[in-house]
Amino acid sequence: MTVQQYAISEYPDTVDIYARLKNLLNQPIRPIQRERMQEYLTYFDTRCNRSKALNDEAQKIIPGGVQHNLAFNYPFPIAIEKADGAYLWDPDGNCYIDFLQAGGPTMLGSNYKPVRDKVIEMLQTCAPVTGLFHEYELKLAQLINRFMPSVEMFRMLGSGTESVMAAIRGARAFTRKKKIIKVGGAYHGWSDSMVFSLHVPGTGRMEAKGIPRGATANTQEFFPNALGALRAKLILNRLLGGTAAVIVEPVGPESGTRPVPFDFNRKVRELCDEFGTLLIFDEVVTGFRLGMGGAQGYFGIKPDLTVLGKCISGGYPMAGGVGGRAEVISCFAAGIGGSGERAYIGGTLSANPLSCVAGYYALLEMERTNAPVLAGKAGDRLTRGLQAIIEKHGLPFVAFNQGSIVHLETSGVMLLDLHNPLKLARELKPRRHMMEEMGAAYMASGLVTVAGSRMYTSMADTDAVIDEALNKFEGVLASADGH
Ligand SMILES: Cc1ncc(COP(=O)(O)O)c(C=O)c1O
Repeated sequence: MTVQQYAISEYPDTVDIYARLKNLLNQPIRPIQRERMQEYLTYFDTRCNRSKALNDEAQKIIPGGVQHNLAFNYPFPIAIEKADGAYLWDPDGNCYIDFLQAGGPTMLGSNYKPVRDKVIEMLQTCAPVTGLFHEYELKLAQLINRFMPSVEMFRMLGSGTESVMAAIRGARAFTRKKKIIKVGGAYHGWSDSMVFSLHVPGTGRMEAKGIPRGATANTQEFFPNALGALRAKLILNRLLGGTAAVIVEPVGPESGTRPVPFDFNRKVRELCDEFGTLLIFDEVVTGFRLGMGGAQGYFGIKPDLTVLGKCISGGYPMAGGVGGRAEVISCFAAGIGGSGERAYIGGTLSANPLSCVAGYYALLEMERTNAPVLAGKAGDRLTRGLQAIIEKHGLPFVAFNQGSIVHLETSGVMLLDLHNPLKLARELKPRRHMMEEMGAAYMASGLVTVAGSRMYTSMADTDAVIDEALNKFEGVLASADGH
């Protein structure tokens, strides 16, 4: 019997998913009944005193009282004190099943001992950083190349955001072209040129506060899956300085919230070849989560450049890197000196020994344990369970997954776009608020999700953990308003 290599056991039927999502969007929202919502909010007032006190203090010194974009603000952020395997604990002693997974990197479960031991060993010998070369930089780059042969060379950086910046700079330096095309709604970090059409396709500079027009002047978007529109942009760009790269999240914007048909990436690859444009796969989420070969292995596509993050340092700090064709990546040659020939990137803590040793052993452990596939099976079980709950209670909600990336759309806010500006203007706020309420209700029930509409599963999510989670989800979903 061949061992399953990738987390996706069956590719989602995207036509069916979009039909169900359209149905969800065409209905009035079904928020949690008011009385039940009040009970969920009471949880925060009565059971989370320590978190509340910490947050009250933090409000005075930290903008918004919280540092991380994926932390819940509603009604206030919960502090986390302990993490282990599939669970998190807050300072008031409440326990949560962790489907945030720190935004994706902890595929082995939180605080996985075999990796932690190697990190401690490194701290005791070399300390976290010296600013000089360490053998684990080499070992990690070689390992990534073994899993993703398209990564002929690899340059490690501090975050996904930095690595996207580097990929774009490298693509421009190599092709000597200017334009970058992304998919509307996709997230590629928060660099000046990429805060463009975030979350909601068609919205361009809507979130670009503090970013001069010039910084996004060469960034363009096309609507999700609209390959005709992509082609039209590529044609037009020939007259406007050319397209340096097309950048995609390979399962679709926002980690597959708007999923792509299976052959989407192949068609984008073909277009890039036709127009002499580089294809950048942003595998910050999918890299190693979909399988050790990433989305590129799963779809059988060779991107020119790959952006990595999250899993490459196993959940330890400084997760980012860009790899790909040697002739492009060599423009990032580092070290003292330089002639103006190279594309300048860097970072005091980039590729520090701690991140490299953590990433190296995390990836080896993920390979040894087949973690991506185990996490994918947990994602399948969670999705099937959610679909059964949705059906049982006659709800319009939509659950689907790409392996360990599980989507649960209840408010549909993530699917609004500028195709229908009136609907967007009218419904963005109430649908967004419903999603916040869902997130709070899940939290009060002992479930931490990604922004109330997505769950990442890990190897630590045994059948028992998933069944426990489904019980909790049913409590929340069953309290949705009836019509
Ligand atoms: C697809 C994608 N690209 C880039 C980034 C940015 O990575 P970072 O948060 O490490 O800067 C993220 C972060 O969630 C992401 O999901």
